[in-house]
Amino acid sequence: MEPVRIIDVIKSRRSVRQFLDRPVEDDRISEILEAGQWAPSGLNNQPWRFVVVKERGLIASMAECTRYGAIIRGAPLLIAVFLDEDVMYDHTKDSQACGAAIQNMLLAAHGLGLGAVWLGEILNRKAEVCRILEAPESMELMAVIAVGYPAPGDSNPGVRRDISEIAFAEQFSKPIF
Ligand SMILES: Cc1cc2nc3c(=O)[nH]c(=O)nc-3n(C[C@H](O)[C@H](O)[C@H](O)COP(=O)(O)O)c2cc1C
Repeated sequence: MEPVRIIDVIKSRRSVRQFLDRPVEDDRISEILEAGQWAPSGLNNQPWRFVVVKERGLIASMAECTRYGAIIRGAPLLIAVFLDEDVMYDHTKDSQACGAAIQNMLLAAHGLGLGAVWLGEILNRKAEVCRILEAPESMELMAVIAVGYPAPGDSNPGVRRDISEIAFAEQFSKPIF
């Protein structure tokens, strides 16, 4: 097998917002969750909790909680990512750990030939999502990931700032390259 360059995987991942009407197999869901499970966390406290949602009624209810409802409604699978405040030690660092878990899951989905998108706007109505998913009091919603097989034609070129805008040599006054 050809060695896989992580940079190629990272750069070829795009947010996918339109999906085929095809379920995601349970072994693939397990692998995505495992990728999240193996993210780094401060003190290795693993503050993330994942709720896998496939039930159409729940997906429809969650779609009502965001202006990106069409993406959610069209997805066969949602993974709601929560921060468990019962194991939290620092809100910033624990939120960052959840972000690392989310990115791991996006990359795992991509590696499995699936598409996914990180949905944050839904946090504006996180209380409603918590109620729909019967989240215990200690759970803070961090994001919802919509996952599925990518529909053809949902192309997204991917744009990033030039490296010279975001990285510096030694001090901010000095260009990197
Ligand atoms: C914290 C965060 C919140 C996001 N929220 C949304 C969202 O609510 N709706 C959406 O369509 N995309 C959302 N995205 C996806 C971004 O729009 C996307 O990652 C960005 O435009 C770069 O595109 P790419 O992922 O295809 O490289 C979010 C991404 C992050 C990291």
